This record gives sequence, structure tokens and C-alpha cells, in this order.
Amino acid sequence: GRKFFVGGNWKCNGTTDQVDKIVKILNEGQVPPTDVVEVVVSPPYVFLPVVKSQLRPEFQVAAQNCWVKKGGAFTGEVSAEMLANLGVPWVILGHSERRALLGESNEFVGDKVAYALSQGLKVIACVGETLEQREAGSTMDVVAAQTKAIAEKIKDWSNVVIAYEPVWAIGTGKVATPDQAQEVHASLRDWLKINVSPEVADSTRIIYGGSVTGANCKELAAKPDVDGFLVGGASLKPEFIDIINSAT
Ligand code: 13P
Repeated sequence: GRKFFVGGNWKCNGTTDQVDKIVKILNEGQVPPTDVVEVVVSPPYVFLPVVKSQLRPEFQVAAQNCWVKKGGAFTGEVSAEMLANLGVPWVILGHSERRALLGESNEFVGDKVAYALSQGLKVIACVGETLEQREAGSTMDVVAAQTKAIAEKIKDWSNVVIAYEPVWAIGTGKVATPDQAQEVHASLRDWLKINVSPEVADSTRIIYGGSVTGANCKELAAKPDVDGFLVGGASLKPEFIDIINSAT
């Protein structure tokens, strides 16, 4: 079985005081054991070392991005090897905010995933369609093209989690219905089965992101192909603990 996965993407939020408060909530929360759920929180780069050192040991950390290749003269970037050196096990790549606002193409995201994996990082790779694309009926084409650009560059999927995050659901309060999420997750799994392998399709976690809350997580988690969540806004609040508990 695929172990339930809950990621908290803090995005570009937080002061030192707020980070202390969130870490306290995370450390005091009652959650299922690590053989039931894998929890990964993703603060901004500058808070990664402090969060990693203060967080309960059963929770892991992720960076929200990294550079596409080996570090060097790339002002403002952080390399995968730096994250590995700091003991940061995970990185989120291809988030829709970076695709849309910073111009990251499918190919660039594929290159980033391959390089991060080569440096020993585990990757949460994000895919998802815009409202316009959904209304045009091209959801699966878009998501397949984003996944294909990754599949072309990697062989080993064991350290990859796919996050399906429909852009229209991100930060909007408009969560996908459980059926909408299930439909895309099942199609994605089918795509992996045909284009990668049945084993990879069966073992790769496909998590949902977009306006997940303590109130809507249970219904989504009940769907057979929803293997967890990538949570934005609610990951900064006590209800993140409830979302972790939707694993059981
Ligand atoms: P929200 O949960 O705030 O909609 O954000 C989802 C997301 O983008 C997680 O990466």
C-alpha cells in the first residue's frame, strides 16, 4: 500500500514569531504513527534550518524550490546539493505559482526534478490545470504533458510524490470535489501505468492540493486514488493536525 502523505506548503509566509508558533502546534499535535502517515512541512528557505532543528523528529522538512543544476554563479538561487548538505530530505518542484509567476516550463520542471533526485533529494512534483484549461476539456492533456516532461528525464520514481493541484482550487476556497480529484488521480495513475510501468503506477503517491481544510479533508481522503494532501493556507493553522489525522 501507498503510505498516506501530508505536506504543508507555507509558501512565502512567516516571521520568526509565527514560525515558533506553528512549530509548537505541530510538535504538540496528536497524530498517527509514522507507519500510517508521512508528514512533511515546507517553510521558506530562511527558516528551514530552525524548523528542521525544532520540529518533532517524525516530521520532515521540504524546500519549496531549488536550482535546476549544480550551484555556482546563479545569484539568488539555492542548489539541490545545498539542501542535501543541510539534511533537508524533500523539495517541492513545479508548483503552479512558480510555473505561472516565474515562467517555469514543463521542460524546466522536468530538469529540476531529475537534478534534485540525482542529488539524493525526494521530490514533491506539482501538476495541475487552470480553470480555462478545465473548461476547455483539456485537464488530462495538461496534466499528462506536465507528467511526461518529468517522466522523460527520470528512471526511478521511488522518491517522487505527485501533487495534483488544480490552479483554480489553490488559495480560492474552491476545493475540487472528491469525485473531481479522484477522476484526475485515477487518470494520472493510468497514465503512469501505460507510459512508465504498472509498478510505478501502483506505488507512486498522488496527493491532492487546493483549498484543503480540516472540514473537507476526510471526504477527499476516502477516495481510493487520493494518497494524501499538499496543504497551503491551512498548513499554517491548528487544523493542519486534523488534516494529518485524515490518514486514518
Ligand atoms: P491552498 O491550500 O492555500 O489552496 O494552497 C494549496 C497549495 O498551493 C499547496 O501547494
